[in-house]
Amino acid sequence: MPGRTKRKSPLKAPDRPYLALGLEGSANKLGAGIIKHAEDGSATVLSNIRHTYITPPGEGFQPRDTALHHREWALKVIDDCLKQANVSMHDMDCICFTKGPGMGAPLQSVALVARTLSLLYDKPLVGVNHCVGHIEMGREITGAQNPVVLYVSGGNTQVIAYSRQCYRIFGETLDIAVGNCLDRFARVINLSNDPSPGYNIEQEAKKGKRLLPIPYATKGMDISLSGILTSIEAYTFDKRYRPEGVADSSEDDIITPADLCFSLQETVFAMLVEITERAMAHIGSKEVLIVGGVGCNERLQEMMGIMAAERHGQIFATDERFCIDNGIMIAQAGLLGFRMGYSTPLTKSTCTQRFRTDQVHVTWRT
Ligand SMILES: *[C@@H]1O[C@H](CO)[C@@H](O)[C@H](O)[C@H]1NC(C)=O
Ligand SMILES: *[C@@H]1O[C@H](CO)[C@@H](O)[C@H](O)[C@H]1NC(C)=O
Repeated sequence: MPGRTKRKSPLKAPDRPYLALGLEGSANKLGAGIIKHAEDGSATVLSNIRHTYITPPGEGFQPRDTALHHREWALKVIDDCLKQANVSMHDMDCICFTKGPGMGAPLQSVALVARTLSLLYDKPLVGVNHCVGHIEMGREITGAQNPVVLYVSGGNTQVIAYSRQCYRIFGETLDIAVGNCLDRFARVINLSNDPSPGYNIEQEAKKGKRLLPIPYATKGMDISLSGILTSIEAYTFDKRYRPEGVADSSEDDIITPADLCFSLQETVFAMLVEITERAMAHIGSKEVLIVGGVGCNERLQEMMGIMAAERHGQIFATDERFCIDNGIMIAQAGLLGFRMGYSTPLTKSTCTQRFRTDQVHVTWRT
């Protein structure tokens, strides 16, 4: 569904609309999206198509198979994206692709598609930082002006705030990402990966009745999750654990998969709320924006909302169209940079698995 938003922009208004194609494939979602920036500065999502590589229960996605998925689906997804937007490749001002961070082989397979389109249609390329894509799309959709950003996904856990042409990282995970922790636990208890392991943990957690003790590991502005994963996994070997849930209601000392999902979510989300609140207090912001795949989790949004309300602030979040990896966020961040004169020469259009949010020079904000 196309969305239309209007916001004051430091960018000079264009004398004609700009169109950008964005391609994303840093993990198991392949996305293509087209965004339009009109003469009055407003952005319109013309199309946003995604295809997800879903593995069987108990299995994660491997780089090689994921890259194969992206190669198989690239033409169909881009074709659908152009059709839905009712535009042709010739209309594009630039082709934006994810430069990183992410998994090497999937990133490269999508960058190759971007390079090919760039040569075929003689269009400039714009390499985009995936995390900055999430932040810019979140700001555009929600209208949040200068929020503290909590970026939570399968590969990333960061608390970010803008300062002087840079998205600075205030806090982050010291080991694994939140999404990775949830996904790996979903595999342990054999939850389905369809539509996503995190979504299924969230549904399971709603049935949970017991808050089991697991470590609470915030360290200053940072958090640690690998010990928590080990600790919650250990409960599946407890003799009170019932993998099939509650078999006999007369037993009141049993532990169900739902209890484990509930305990994991409550503990980890409380840690995220704590470090986000500390960043808000530090920079004096009353806005918090949650982006990334785990940002769809309604319990996380609820807990963050309570904290924000207590500080007389506000929480901003997007739905699954925009918080889960997508092509439109790459188009949005890429076009903001392109309008400031930034593009990526063909010879520099490589990908990089490690590409920190604070390495990007944010020219388009004042
Ligand atoms: C698609 O765009 C063309 C012009 O570019 C226009 O004539 C046509 O009506 C559009 N189709 C739809 C379904 O909007
Ligand atoms: C996991 O679930 C699938 C079906 O959802 C089932 O076929 C498989 O046997 C289960 N594996 C374990 C270890 O429970």
